[in-house]
Amino acid sequence: MKPISTEQKRARYQRLYAQLEALLIKSPNDIAKMATIAAVLYHKTDYFFWCGFYFLESSDLWVGPYQGPVACQVLPAGKGVCHASLKQQKPLLIPDVHLFPDHIACDSRSQSEVVIPFVRPNGSFAVLDVDSDQKNAFDLVDLEELQKIVSLIS
Ligand code: SME
Repeated sequence: MKPISTEQKRARYQRLYAQLEALLIKSPNDIAKMATIAAVLYHKTDYFFWCGFYFLESSDLWVGPYQGPVACQVLPAGKGVCHASLKQQKPLLIPDVHLFPDHIACDSRSQSEVVIPFVRPNGSFAVLDVDSDQKNAFDLVDLEELQKIVSLIS
């Protein structure tokens, strides 16, 4: 992970946002949008180890479009960072996943995580989940800029 300033990080996210905005405007399909977001973010951000979406269905979270190592297909209700973010209806920044009491480790290499909850165009709930294999990989810039990118889905 190359060190960059906050300004450089913002500028990089703004370029990604502009690229995604241009790509997503052509699609009315939210699954296609999520697949495109996961691919662009994962391949253009060196500290993203896993990047993707989970959908709430009957109290469990089922995996949607993602990029990175194979992930858990289902996150059982009431456990983990993704469910906590949805329950609290707020983004969560987890600097060290091992300190989160019931974190679900889909891959033991994940060290830190950021989760953004949102409502899909069909009214159901979902989250964007991003993992890094470094501790403390994410900060408020990631959280705010990822929220803006997620807003392109609705
Ligand atoms: N760590 C998440 C599970 C999803 S994986 O990180 C891809 C959680 O605790 O909810």
